[in-house]
Amino acid sequence: MDKRSFFKTSMVALGGLLIPRKMLALEYYPATKNGEWAILYGTWCGSTRDASVWISEGMNGIANVFDVRENPDLSKYKHIVIGGAIRAGVVPKELQTYLENNKSVIDGKVRGLFAVCGNMKQPVNQEQHNRLINNHLAKLAGAGNVPSKVFLGRITFGLMEPDVQKQMRSMMNNEEYDNLKRSECLDFGREVFKSINQ
Ligand SMILES: Cc1cc2nc3c(=O)[nH]c(=O)nc-3n(C[C@H](O)[C@H](O)[C@H](O)COP(=O)(O)O)c2cc1C
Repeated sequence: MDKRSFFKTSMVALGGLLIPRKMLALEYYPATKNGEWAILYGTWCGSTRDASVWISEGMNGIANVFDVRENPDLSKYKHIVIGGAIRAGVVPKELQTYLENNKSVIDGKVRGLFAVCGNMKQPVNQEQHNRLINNHLAKLAGAGNVPSKVFLGRITFGLMEPDVQKQMRSMMNNEEYDNLKRSECLDFGREVFKSINQ
């Protein structure tokens, strides 16, 4: 091989190494997975993604965390936690569809449920819990009596679709908020983990 073809071949090989595989969101976070736990979430602006990672951290980082838009194959997992952001009282359509289409995969494996909402910046009470978890997400997930939690989330205008942003800016008096608490997510992760590992 002459110098020129050697150079060309090397560049092609190097390029191959640099081309990413199909992206798997959060595959490397956290790093101490045990292969048994998965957290599946649906989000618009990311607070539910952060809650999911922090819940996993509360479980000592053992859960693999999936955005539902990856359409993950959860069949190899023994324990699944499911969470959704709330808009107009419901979780994202993608999460609803996934749960509908994967009933047989998640059946009997759901160990925890959570929702992330704004609740007009007010503390969450039993009424919201019933509406968002018991009468909504638990039904979609076909889950029985498992640990569950409604977290307060956040508003970041710049992450919203332009029309939604315009509407929310006027509704919220142009004020963003951030009420998602990592400590609450960690505590929920510990609670879910303990419910299986007594
Ligand atoms: C268009 C829109 C509709 C919303 N509807 C509700 C709602 O019905 N109830 C509620 O409590 N919070 C509502 N929220 C607040 C979100 O639930 C909150 O911002 C949450 O943190 C979003 O989660 P995400 O960042 O994972 O998408 C709404 C927010 C937006 C932008």
